[in-house]
Amino acid sequence: MEKGPKIIVEPPGPKAREIINISKRYLATTTRDFPLVIAKMENDLIEDVDGNIYIDFAAGIAVANVGNRNPEVLEAVRNQLEKFIHSAPHDFYDDIQYRVAKLLTEITPGNFEKKVYFGNSGTEAVEAAIKLAKRATKRPRLISFIGAFHGRTLGSLALTASKPVHQKGYFSTIPGVEHVPYAYCYRCPFKLDPASCDVWCARYIEEVLFQSYVPPEEVAAIVVEPVQGEGGYIVPPKKFIQELRRITDKYGILLIVDEIQSGLGRTGKLWAIEHFDVVPDIMSSAKAIAAGLPLGATILRANLDFDEPGAHSSTFGGNAVSLAAALANIEYIIKNKLHERAAKLGKKALKRLKEAQEEINIIGDVRGLGLMIGVEIVKDKETKKINKEARDKIIDSALKKGLVLLPTGKSVIRVAPPLTIDEDHLEKGLDILIKAIKEFS
Ligand SMILES: Cc1ncc(COP(=O)(O)O)c(C=O)c1O
Repeated sequence: MEKGPKIIVEPPGPKAREIINISKRYLATTTRDFPLVIAKMENDLIEDVDGNIYIDFAAGIAVANVGNRNPEVLEAVRNQLEKFIHSAPHDFYDDIQYRVAKLLTEITPGNFEKKVYFGNSGTEAVEAAIKLAKRATKRPRLISFIGAFHGRTLGSLALTASKPVHQKGYFSTIPGVEHVPYAYCYRCPFKLDPASCDVWCARYIEEVLFQSYVPPEEVAAIVVEPVQGEGGYIVPPKKFIQELRRITDKYGILLIVDEIQSGLGRTGKLWAIEHFDVVPDIMSSAKAIAAGLPLGATILRANLDFDEPGAHSSTFGGNAVSLAAALANIEYIIKNKLHERAAKLGKKALKRLKEAQEEINIIGDVRGLGLMIGVEIVKDKETKKINKEARDKIIDSALKKGLVLLPTGKSVIRVAPPLTIDEDHLEKGLDILIKAIKEFS
């Protein structure tokens, strides 16, 4: 594919409109809302069915860390397709499952014996984490955070708290989940000053929740995203996560860290939790783990393993083709130090966006780690009122200029390109984004 962007017809063009109309007739409603009909993807570029070429700042929701259709991943997938596709991987052994599991245990934080459970998605990785924690501790309760997103199946949905629409009509999910405020310092839920609050939101768990109605000895796990993804790309202070580790250690509670969106180099380290010098007991990974093929992994302290066969299992989890992709993908990230590249490019992008923030009144906050950057759009800097309308218009306008963006949170634009993005494309994409924001300020 040539360099981007190139807009030859305003999206959605005629072919795109036709496909959108027929899709609306046959596809069940999901979040699908963008007039983008994809024909081809290559590294950091997306071509639509009308021949427009866009710069990709979405990476398929932080999935294509190694770029879309990474050649080394394609090669590994092709080789695996020549051997076998599906083997009932939770019933039979093969020579790929243990290799990916071993690699994951080696590259995740924690100098102790670990094991890996494979599922097919993020939500399944979280479901497995919930089951492991409950079964190992024999405790019934869980603590999660306001703004969290851990998935949409009923177990993980019970932890999710980023938008009411996710929960609406599905009550009850699993019982015993308590939601507490996250360290969203730009909009502190306690209206405190982060410079002097001493992470009250974390201490609240011990000093309010445990003192009022949640017996800590009934809590199996605290589940946390090291950077909130769907909540709005929110980076908490280091001490917040460290305080969670202190509390969990004190009460024999497990710390489950959800790295589904933040992992595999996205934040400038292999795992976002490394920014906080904290070691979790259980970690969930998915999205970028297999470069676009469906795979979820739950990495656990070996002593938390299920105590008997059949306690948890799946037909497809650990599918050989996904695992072949995962092996090539993870090796590619490590070999090419993509996490370091994300840190370097992320610093540049953050600097440009912060400069834009100085100048543009509707950019309330710019925050991020590596190439996981959130730009929070507000009515004005003084009131900080959310401005979803402008945020959505900015994303539409950017698309028309050749940049694919995704929203997050209530009023945030996410900047999450492939970590392999061409530097020129990153600059051009930022030019488009800043120009689009200016149009609505
Ligand atoms: C942090 C986090 N956990 C879990 C999930 C759920 O993943 P999936 O959509 O693959 O079920 C997501 C998806 O956005 C996520 O960002």
